[in-house]
Amino acid sequence: MKILITGSTGVLGTALINQLTSLNYDVKLTSRRKPETPGQFDWVYSDLFSGDGLDEAVKNVEVVIHAATSPLKNARRIDVSGLENLLTKLEHIKHFIYPSIVGIEEIPFKYYKLKCEAEDLLKNSSIPYTIVRATQFHGFVDHLLLSKPLFKRYIIPGSIKFQSVDVGDFANHLIGLIEKGPQGRVDDFGGPEIMSLSEMANLKINVNNEPNKIVSIALPGKLYKSLLNGKNTNNMRQIGRVTFEEYLRQKLD
Ligand SMILES: NC(=O)c1ccc[n+]([C@@H]2O[C@H](COP(=O)([O-])OP(=O)(O)OC[C@H]3O[C@@H](n4cnc5c(N)ncnc54)[C@H](OP(=O)(O)O)[C@@H]3O)[C@@H](O)[C@H]2O)c1
Repeated sequence: MKILITGSTGVLGTALINQLTSLNYDVKLTSRRKPETPGQFDWVYSDLFSGDGLDEAVKNVEVVIHAATSPLKNARRIDVSGLENLLTKLEHIKHFIYPSIVGIEEIPFKYYKLKCEAEDLLKNSSIPYTIVRATQFHGFVDHLLLSKPLFKRYIIPGSIKFQSVDVGDFANHLIGLIEKGPQGRVDDFGGPEIMSLSEMANLKINVNNEPNKIVSIALPGKLYKSLLNGKNTNNMRQIGRVTFEEYLRQKLD
């Protein structure tokens, strides 16, 4: 069974490659840049913006794990129109696995609206699919929200909540779905703990022995409110194994 991994240079794509390397699958990788460590797998260039290389990427493929995305640049063109174009080339496949994000219809964020549209494209297509929504990856919180202390202070909306998950745990879950076959939308995949951003910042300070302090601020708007209310979490689905603290400690090793 030939499996195509799109977005093979990304955070999820890299985690998928790491795990697939020790498994007995026939894998093809695609993205615009070549992954630094593609393992034993072939890589082909493709661009979801222009459509270049997609025909070659999908050739002889039976399963696709679609880890390509572009939240910040040309998001609609890549995550919605690019996906729509890709799907027209996949009439022959057995299973399209789509990683989505927990709570997207309840969080007013442009990228999440596009993720909803992408899910709808799949649901309305004739392609057998599985959609699985995950919570934010540990690295997303670490690198995006807790990456830039200012004058030794994390100035953050400390009360908002996350249930961050290890990307390796999620990659493992997605690979497990290959054998299960298409199942439509399945249960969410969440991290093991729900914590406030302040609690996560505190862990980071303690684990890394940082001199930083936390200044918690409130923000106006519906996005803040939805994260305050934990719409990006699912307390019934605390499935991932690796905690945020373990993730931080692994980075020190
Ligand atoms: N990050 C999170 O916290 C999180 C949580 C839950 C679910 N997810 C979902 O998981 C999936 C993967 O996210 P990620 O964080 O791994 O993303 P990422 O690190 O930003 O990786 C995005 C990938 O998409 C590729 N890409 C970007 N533009 C492209 C284009 N025009 N044509 C072809 N490929 C393109 C990039 O490769 P090149 O630049 O080399 O082309 C890269 O490999 C997404 O669907 C995301 O919504 C993410």
